[in-house]
Amino acid sequence: MDQGNVVRASVIGCGYLGAVHAASLAALGHEVVGVDVDQDKIALLARGEAPFFEPGLADLLQAGMSAGKLRFSTDFAAAADCQLHFLAVGTPQMRGSQAADLTFIHAAVDALLPWLRPGAVVVGKSTVPVGTARELADKIAAAVPGALLAWNPEFLREGFAVEDTLRPDRIVYGLPADAAEAEAAKALLDQLYAKPLASGCPLISTDYQTAELVKVAANSFLATKISFINAMAEIAEVVGADVTKLADAIGFDQRIGRKFLNAGVGFGGGCLPKDIRAFQARADELGTGRSVSFLSEVDAINLRRRERVVELVLASLGDDYQQKRVAVLGLAFKPESDDVRDSPALDVAVRLHGLGVGVVATDPQAIGNARRLHPQLDFAATAEEAVDGAEVVVLVTEWRQYRDFDPKLAHALVARPVVIDGRNCLDADRWRDAGWTYLGMGR
Ligand code: UGA
Repeated sequence: MDQGNVVRASVIGCGYLGAVHAASLAALGHEVVGVDVDQDKIALLARGEAPFFEPGLADLLQAGMSAGKLRFSTDFAAAADCQLHFLAVGTPQMRGSQAADLTFIHAAVDALLPWLRPGAVVVGKSTVPVGTARELADKIAAAVPGALLAWNPEFLREGFAVEDTLRPDRIVYGLPADAAEAEAAKALLDQLYAKPLASGCPLISTDYQTAELVKVAANSFLATKISFINAMAEIAEVVGADVTKLADAIGFDQRIGRKFLNAGVGFGGGCLPKDIRAFQARADELGTGRSVSFLSEVDAINLRRRERVVELVLASLGDDYQQKRVAVLGLAFKPESDDVRDSPALDVAVRLHGLGVGVVATDPQAIGNARRLHPQLDFAATAEEAVDGAEVVVLVTEWRQYRDFDPKLAHALVARPVVIDGRNCLDADRWRDAGWTYLGMGR
């Protein structure tokens, strides 16, 4: 990269978003320091190890560090000479409320202020309730005149985070209202994203509140699409229709599209569930709650699918379900991730266990995280071990190894060949041909 285009950037908060962002910026040729208050996380990152499962991240970390482009620190002083400071801390759901907890983002800004220089730009990446950027911009302007704030929402998907960060499908800037300030912030961001912008990535420059809303609107739309198809699955179950065929058929209409129309046990993770709840909470505060009241329904449909899987298991086991064993394949909220935050898969395992069913759960990556939250569950290292002696097999995260699981081999291991396909990802005919009772979601 032309030295003139190298930007010195800090990334504050080195979780899923921040660690990937820091490593990706270094891969784009910039000089990056990742800052986090968690010493263990920083120690791992500084050794080039990813603190969570994310394909490609460890390679990127190691490449960035051997090129001398990437370092990590627990000390905010390390960010002092940076031109851009990215805020990438979590905004989880608040305890006992639907709203987002902004403690971490305010703490990050407060810790950064003593090191912030006039002319530097703080760039929000975290998902926040609309209006947060305005508040942070005022705080920054009062403490460090001449320092600016921009909002640059992130759209990465876990499991594809590196790819999504290096080759985003769009870049959004929320810029200050003052024209000269907006121009200064935009110039630095353009320099930072010179490579994706040169490859034709669309750029939308707008105000703070639109940039904040873009992010929650995108996640709300995706959540709505999934709950829409899951609502169709509920109807399909009543009338005996097949929701996967329905999704294929409507998905061919390019205005609808087939993506995010997979019916099953529903959405989870650290983003979609909490983002729709926080959006509803913020809209309520703004007096426009009715505009997004459908999101409460989206949430309710989503949570009903977990209950549906549990009902199917109990119905298959019969009255003496407490004496029986069930194999739960999957704990992560989706494949290629070890994240169990708000995971439908883990929820199904925990609910069944709570009802007294003998649950043996497995996952290629998420057992450690699941065990930390729910040590009461029994875990098996492989699908083969999990299904051994099971009366029902429930697939709730569509990892490749479960989709490819040989139904004949599995048949020889189980006590009773009943499979509940909570992700509609198995070849039903192949499993039936191998002697299984196959139950899908809405099919
Ligand atoms: C989501 C968005 O897709 C990203 O664009 C966004 O940047 C990110 O949240 C975020 O806000 O940080 P992610 O949470 O990684 O990304 O996961 P998704 O791939 O969106 O999947 C979410 C959930 O929906 C998973 O539990 C998945 O199994 C489920 N899903 C997805 C379905 O049930 N059906 C589908 O058809 C698609």
